[in-house]
Amino acid sequence: MKKSKLTTDQGVPITDNQNSLTIGNRGPVLLQDVQFIEKMAHFDRERIPERVVHAKGTGAHGYFQVYKSMALYTKAKFLQDPAKKTPIFIRFSTVTGGRGSADTVRDPRGFAVKFYTEDGNYDLVGNNLPVFFIRDAIKFPDMVHAFKGAPDSNMPSSASSHDSFWDFISLTPESTHMITWLFSDRGTPRSYRMQEGFGVNTYVWVNLRGKAIYVKYHWKPKLGVRTLDRHEATRLAGTDPDFLTRDLHDAIAKGGKVEYELKVQLMNIADELKQDFDPLDPTKTWPENKFPLMPVGKMILDRNPDNFFTEVEQAAFCPASLVPGIEFSADKLLQGRTFSYADTQRHRLGANYLQLTVNKPLAPVDNNQRDGAMQTRHFSGPVNYEPNTLSGGMPAEAAEEGKPHTYKLEGEVVKQKIKLTNDFAQAGERYRTLGKNDQEHMVDNLVADLTPISRQIQKRVIENLTTADAQLGRLVAKGLKL
Ligand code: HEM
Repeated sequence: MKKSKLTTDQGVPITDNQNSLTIGNRGPVLLQDVQFIEKMAHFDRERIPERVVHAKGTGAHGYFQVYKSMALYTKAKFLQDPAKKTPIFIRFSTVTGGRGSADTVRDPRGFAVKFYTEDGNYDLVGNNLPVFFIRDAIKFPDMVHAFKGAPDSNMPSSASSHDSFWDFISLTPESTHMITWLFSDRGTPRSYRMQEGFGVNTYVWVNLRGKAIYVKYHWKPKLGVRTLDRHEATRLAGTDPDFLTRDLHDAIAKGGKVEYELKVQLMNIADELKQDFDPLDPTKTWPENKFPLMPVGKMILDRNPDNFFTEVEQAAFCPASLVPGIEFSADKLLQGRTFSYADTQRHRLGANYLQLTVNKPLAPVDNNQRDGAMQTRHFSGPVNYEPNTLSGGMPAEAAEEGKPHTYKLEGEVVKQKIKLTNDFAQAGERYRTLGKNDQEHMVDNLVADLTPISRQIQKRVIENLTTADAQLGRLVAKGLKL
């Protein structure tokens, strides 16, 4: 082991790290003990705000590789060359619990991938379930308030079985489809290595000719999908609250390669109004028989972080981090997400959070943004504006091919729900596509969660479940003795 000397943060040698500086050996302590003050003041600031959602998580490094060029559909450079490996960082998480909560509670799981591409960073910030609870971002703060601990008691710290969760859900019919995923055993995955991932929102791919097409993302685990049942998940939450974190860490530490395949569904934009659902509605899936899954490439996770704080806690993913060739759709949930993430990260990590190692693009960064708290870059010269001649017009705007595609939009300025909501059909279909055992588990999971909930809320939940599927509603009502 290399010899090293203990110093203060100023690099001054420390000769005694056991005793504070006192008058006599019984105290009091002197204010001039700058070594003590620096050490304690630093310790006092070791925690940063936890993520407002997805606070408990774990990460891994790896790479992504396409099977063949996607040039027909997108000009995104990292999706062109099968010989190229694009480095990635992934963070898996639960959603509702705080930083120290258990891994195996019923909850969606975050599945966030950062691709360090030659055109800058691309983040695909998804979940392990294909749909979401709501379709308009303006409801997100209400939803999260209802899901997390109540403002008076702070309970529960991570679980859905409480009145406010079910109160909100029962008043939000579009959440019924998500409930049929969350309350199947998919809500308690056996391993981060054995769960699917979904982009959930609809994005737009654009090729070099400017042709745009809607795209939805799916990650398929090489090991297949495996889940825990309610009893096992509950037991593990007590005996090993870090069960999923440990599973991923140990698999990679043993030299295992964790693999997922990326697939996409594509839809011609001209066909968007021809469906029995709105393709920009994130509470809906696209039927796979009509929009088949097309394999795109593979992602391999092969390296654990060696510093949790700098790599995992400081990681900042954002659905607005897109690269040329990938664009936003008008999906109202996605539009709201594009603001929220970087906004929390400026608060959680600070103005220059994109300079932190895990967030810093491998692609060169050059612009006239300067200064700010914790600036680490050293700029020289008199020019920090554009256009300029004093530094030869540099940095100059990039080539035309990076430009987003142009399109027309017209309509009235309104605050209105989408017309085609069709909130129960896919929820019912989801229940009916499950095998008998999985259906029984869903009913059992729902009954267990709803048992302590007030009668009035239970009734509203049953109404929604019944509209989705009469049998599902009847069996849950029976389980609740309603
Ligand atoms: C309007 C809807 C939504 C809003 C406003 C929202 C907002 C947020 C915010 C503020 C964070 C914390 C970011 C940070 O501090 O670094 C976050 C984390 C996250 N969100 Fe969302 N979210 C929404 C919907 C979704 C959906 C639909 C998905 C999945 C498709 C999703 C997946 C994630 C993931 C995976 C993380 C954790 C990222 C990480 O590992 O650091 N969110 N979200």
